[in-house]
Amino acid sequence: MSILEIVTYPDKRLRRISKPITNIDGSVQKMIADMAETMYKAPGLGLAAIQVGIDQALIVYDIDQSEGKHALQVLINPRIVEAEGEFLSENEGCLSVPDFRTDVKRYARVLVEGVDADGNPRRFEADGFHALVLQHEIDHVNGKLFIDRISALKRELYKRQLRKKLKKA
Ligand code: NI
Repeated sequence: MSILEIVTYPDKRLRRISKPITNIDGSVQKMIADMAETMYKAPGLGLAAIQVGIDQALIVYDIDQSEGKHALQVLINPRIVEAEGEFLSENEGCLSVPDFRTDVKRYARVLVEGVDADGNPRRFEADGFHALVLQHEIDHVNGKLFIDRISALKRELYKRQLRKKLKKA
């Protein structure tokens, strides 16, 4: 396994729409293992393949990392089929948008479809924090970032902060 480099905003690769995976071969299994290792090392709760520069529709996440436990979830070709309700995602952040956190309006419940690492079709409902993580990661698959979902004013604030930081570096 290896730690992969995480692509950060404003890298244009983050805007790519990932391609569906049609064959879950050894290279996909390796990608899953590398992405999981990269996510845990960061540390982060979720990671989409495009965040390590690979435009293939694949997400990994783990929302139960308490007490050193790991419960890795893998979803290939994930998509939201239905969504309902409103939920304020407090202090949302992203490994590709470092040093910035803000509240984001999300759906409260989602119905998601995809394929697991063994190629089995998956279809399940998620709510609460699980639903938020799925929406965030599936956004990445579609070339979207959480800063697209906040007010223009807040986004401008972030961009200004980023420009200052880049100048210092
Ligand atoms: Ni993210």
